[in-house]
Amino acid sequence: MNQKTIQSILTEERTFPPSDSFAARARIKSLDEYQKLRAAAEKDHTGFWADLARNELDWHTPFNTILDDSKAPHFQWFTDGKLNVSYNCIDRHLESRGDKTAIIFEGENGDTRHISFRELHGEVCTFANALKANGIGKGDRVVFYMPMVPEAVVAMQACARIGAIHSIVFGGFSAESLKDRIEDANAKAIITADGGTRGGKVIELKAACDAALDKGCASIEKVFVLKRAGNNVPMKQGRDIWWSDAVDGMSQDCEPEWVESEHPLFLLYTSGSTGKPKGIQHSSAGYLLGATMTMQWVFDINEDDIFWCTADVGWVTGHSYVAYGPLSNGATILMYEGAPTVPDAGRFWKICQDHKVTIFYTAPTAIRALMRFGDDVPNHYDLSSLRLLGTVGEPINPEAWMWYHKTIGKEQCPIVDTWWQTETGSIMIAPVPGAVDTKPGSCTLPLPGIAADIVNENGDSIDDPQQGGYLVIRKPWPFMLRTIWGDEQRYYDTYWARFKGKYYLAGDSARKDKDGYFWIMGRIDDVLNVAGHRLGTMEIESALVSHERIAEAAVVGRPDDIKGEAICAYVVARGERPLGDDADALVQELRAWVAKEIGPIAKPDSIVFAETLPKTRSGKIMRRLLRAIAKGEEITQDISTLESTDIVKQLQGKA
Ligand code: WT7
Repeated sequence: MNQKTIQSILTEERTFPPSDSFAARARIKSLDEYQKLRAAAEKDHTGFWADLARNELDWHTPFNTILDDSKAPHFQWFTDGKLNVSYNCIDRHLESRGDKTAIIFEGENGDTRHISFRELHGEVCTFANALKANGIGKGDRVVFYMPMVPEAVVAMQACARIGAIHSIVFGGFSAESLKDRIEDANAKAIITADGGTRGGKVIELKAACDAALDKGCASIEKVFVLKRAGNNVPMKQGRDIWWSDAVDGMSQDCEPEWVESEHPLFLLYTSGSTGKPKGIQHSSAGYLLGATMTMQWVFDINEDDIFWCTADVGWVTGHSYVAYGPLSNGATILMYEGAPTVPDAGRFWKICQDHKVTIFYTAPTAIRALMRFGDDVPNHYDLSSLRLLGTVGEPINPEAWMWYHKTIGKEQCPIVDTWWQTETGSIMIAPVPGAVDTKPGSCTLPLPGIAADIVNENGDSIDDPQQGGYLVIRKPWPFMLRTIWGDEQRYYDTYWARFKGKYYLAGDSARKDKDGYFWIMGRIDDVLNVAGHRLGTMEIESALVSHERIAEAAVVGRPDDIKGEAICAYVVARGERPLGDDADALVQELRAWVAKEIGPIAKPDSIVFAETLPKTRSGKIMRRLLRAIAKGEEITQDISTLESTDIVKQLQGKA
């Protein structure tokens, strides 16, 4: 065994207890306290959640029914209660925290803004009134295509205030992807901006909306456009309206629409292994309860914290830990619009220093990317305000964990590695930082009231610490997804069919060590995790074959130091197999093509042309073989079904 493997094994065995000083100040101060909470939830699962829902949320109409499972797996929580999410995030803090800063914003160029809870209330109400004045009301779907500016949060809260359902499309997705999502949601309006900034460039958001609308999207009646980048954009009369004009003269008060607990708060599209993206539908009360409680349990949120989650509002992390969870707790958030490397790789650390960030939450891919620039960059800044660090999106490798721990946290900050999904709504498995020892690379233990387990093919629990299995959730939880928008069957098939409706299938494989700690191993379906975000291989394959020169395509992942997984495409062209300059040119063209069809995030890192793809006798593409080839491994699979072994050489780029 070489030095490196011994080291990595040693690292994984290490445990890091919370420091006494952290534990002393923490909401949950000991393992004992955490175990008591878990035990209480195990004893009375629904009672546990009902108590929290009553104590932690403000209700307009209290609920009597805790869990209605009569239509399982369509679980409904707190069904006969009514509340408003924006009331819970803003109004209920006005008396005690009206002047407290809710949002600190910094733009890439260094422009900053501070918005108090009272100011936020005014902005949310005026925009909510503007939406209503333009015919948007309860249940209408509103698609966002926004930069990371405070108005994104204002607009989310405004939708919540009037009961409109937002569906945010990440600004990095193409016009084509935007169109698909608008049409699937049958949305009535779009909220966008003239442009956003990233890496010194203007992202033409409005132009992409126009392109999407030119191709279809018949349901769209209004397009609200925020002035941000200051670039010239055409406005279509009757359809397009400047944000500033829409709010002009609107009242600063807007009575919240009291909605039923189950009223959908938002849809968020995420990749699946087959076909089009799934519109994950979340509820109002149950969802908010998850975002609220996990801010307390996992982020130990306190009155004087400055909480910075670097995620874009286009991802679920930006929903639960930018727009809803922190505000529901009356906490101050930081938002940054821009790239982490502008003007240099110290930007994140400079922001932490300048705004005295106390809790910092980001993705392993960002940590790895910044780690490459060396310790001198962060060492240049005063990071002493930090008290807690977090990660999300993919497993973090022990090396990056240790760097985060030492160089950023100065060995003083617990690291919360948080496992969850768009579907789960909030964090499910993560250390409660004042109570649970951490281990680099493990998301540790399930939160109270979360019945996470690992099971084999038959659905039996696996206790062998060496053996992996399916990660499942055995009991419904309040912040679980409610369905896939417009596709009940797919909801059942994707999450419940595997174990016949008995437990929720997360789609990840994992193992539990001797201490019951969870170690996530990866996805079980054909979904890649690229820079912390899910991409369906099938989507990238369909984008490739929609190019006129492409007949067939297969996409697999290859482990990548920075991005987690790199995208490797194996492609069969129509006619002759492209070679030499023709192949090089086509590779460039296809990369640009995929960027246009799906978005730059989906651009294949490598594209290899072959005469055919390797298939089994039944015609299934041999993905395991392709994965081995992508990794440059020796081929051990049975390839006797292949017509010619030359294909393997072609796929390996050797012929
Ligand atoms: C998938 C969910 C949840 C917000 C970000 C991504 C992977 C997520 C972890 C973690 C290992 C993780 C899983 C999961 N994942 N967090 N801490 N350790 N893997 O949301 O796009 O819905 O993706 O991300 O594979 O299923 P998403």
